[in-house]
Amino acid sequence: MRNLSDIVAAVHADIAEHIGGGKVADYIPALSRVDPRHFGLAVVTCTGERAEAGDAAVPFSIQSISKVFTLTLALERVGARLWQRVGREPSGSAFNSIVQLEQERGVPRNPFINAGALVVTDALLTGRTPKKTAAEILAFLRERSGDPSVSIDDEVAGSEAQTGFRNASLANFIRAFGNLKNPVAEVLDVYFHQCALKLSCAQLARAGLFLAGDGVDPLTGNVVCRPARARRVKALMMTCGHYDASGEFAFKVGLPGKSGVGGGILAIVPKQAAIAVWSPGLNAAGTSHVGAMALERLVERTGWSVF
Ligand code: DON
Repeated sequence: MRNLSDIVAAVHADIAEHIGGGKVADYIPALSRVDPRHFGLAVVTCTGERAEAGDAAVPFSIQSISKVFTLTLALERVGARLWQRVGREPSGSAFNSIVQLEQERGVPRNPFINAGALVVTDALLTGRTPKKTAAEILAFLRERSGDPSVSIDDEVAGSEAQTGFRNASLANFIRAFGNLKNPVAEVLDVYFHQCALKLSCAQLARAGLFLAGDGVDPLTGNVVCRPARARRVKALMMTCGHYDASGEFAFKVGLPGKSGVGGGILAIVPKQAAIAVWSPGLNAAGTSHVGAMALERLVERTGWSVF
């Protein structure tokens, strides 16, 4: 097989004619202005090999991909007690769905749907101010990516706050069941800021590499979490990382992954590599249309599916 850079270049060529496809998220005004013709792909392996294509160095809004990092942080902070407040089953519903919450008495199905992510963020907020909590999340991403220039886009965070009526509804509903401990406005404030984290594909793949390394950053030896925790985060990425399209992603790509409405996807190849792809146009389920296509091609060319 050719080397990784050749494979990544070939994947870029494979999907080139589709670049610009899909529909850019328009429910957050600041996201709707992003040029749909961006495409970036970055792979970093556990041995430190890197390969990039297209706009791999251009920062974008990672949105729901942040939920992977907040879940890791919250599990490290509160441990398995977190599972009393959030489930571990796929929802089969859209990321911002409220339908199951009433029946399940304010305990969200999993930590990656918005309802679950709000509970995770609440767990991180306890004992801290919203500012400090957002700063801790940012510091984690900077440390994991090895890049202190990683930032939060305040314009995107503000735009989310102005249009975040559904998230406010979810948070209030969960709070009514007593499963949010902190003021709704504070939880939302942190959540909107974590969604507005801006990373490039190169930074994001590097930041996710500890999951490929079973909780240990393979390039620095830093221990981020126990192997069992990394395994569980990846299991949830596989089963819930793309909401009601998680089955389709497992079928076509076969890697634990997490999508965001900014058009990014982080995928993990256990013990081998982390991959980040970005293309802002989304499919109906809110996953990057061309990004998912590129991952499918990459997995075909590398044989990296866990199946
Ligand atoms: O909660 C929201 O509306 C967004 N800030 C994040 C949603 C998201 O990325 C869903 N993932 N595909």
